[in-house]
Amino acid sequence: MITSLPSPSAASQWCDRHRNEKISIGYVPTMGALHEGHLSLVARSIAENEVTCASIFVNPLQFNNPDDLKKYPQNRQRDIETLQRVGCDMVYTGLLAQFFPEVEDVKQIKMNDPGPPGKGLEGKFRPGHLEGVVTIVERLFRTVGTCRAYFGEKDYQQTLVVNHLAQRLKGEGLIIDVVPCPTIRENSGLAMSSRNQRLTENQKQVASNIYQALSRAKQSWKIGQHDPAALQRQLREQLAHPDISPDISIDYAAVRDQNNWSAHTPNTEISNARALVAAYVGEVRLIDNLYLGGR
Ligand code: PAJ
Repeated sequence: MITSLPSPSAASQWCDRHRNEKISIGYVPTMGALHEGHLSLVARSIAENEVTCASIFVNPLQFNNPDDLKKYPQNRQRDIETLQRVGCDMVYTGLLAQFFPEVEDVKQIKMNDPGPPGKGLEGKFRPGHLEGVVTIVERLFRTVGTCRAYFGEKDYQQTLVVNHLAQRLKGEGLIIDVVPCPTIRENSGLAMSSRNQRLTENQKQVASNIYQALSRAKQSWKIGQHDPAALQRQLREQLAHPDISPDISIDYAAVRDQNNWSAHTPNTEISNARALVAAYVGEVRLIDNLYLGGR
């Protein structure tokens, strides 16, 4: 039977009790509306730790668009049942105010700086989003304490800012081992996302072009096209193909060196390339990325 806890303090006690008994803890933070992508993280955690906990918290701090927050799918009961079915040991939730007991009003919450990995891409197109992520993730990590924490590469820049946060926390003795995990996709290639629920069948078809474009960029890299500007042009051209262009609107289509995140001026040589795309299909904003290769 899964233990379902209603507050961060109850979750902390549960985790402390297990750690005191030298039981290793794996942790999967989520915003719910669980799909196979989330469950792959839970499965990995179960395989690598003695107990696994998850959290379900739709964090208002990371929604720069209030409409997006309002429309975010929620089905708490179903999520808890799903976690129980796959063998998760504990799930917790909480209210925003419970994560920040030091403030009287949530408007006074001091936002964290995501640091250099937060520059550009999501940092540019969703101002405040990554700040909101690292602000809540710090509290989620403090709630659980020392653990292995599982994150999906689907949100690649998020894994970078979370890693940066974990380095800072390490300095004060809170050891979080951040484990990045591969993106789980539909058969069409579309990266699984809670937001996909808001797409029509036709829009899902259009959205699968994001992965097709990323895959073609990977082929180009493989046959020797290593110029980031040319690869970015290719991505944009494919995404803006006349057959799909009316339904897709690109925020960014970028190629970066995943080990040298700040180096992305034109003519920069890239050693470990990752292509990243954010685009709207209808009103739904989707992100995806793919490792192109190294040299
Ligand atoms: P959420 O979007 O619910 O995602 C929770 C975790 O599942 C993240 O690590 C995300 O990268 C991962 N995930 C989502 N789709 C995936 C897929 N198709 N394949 C593999 N992993 C996938 O990301 C968040 O919540 C929040 O920002 C959070 C970290 C919980 C902080 O609020």
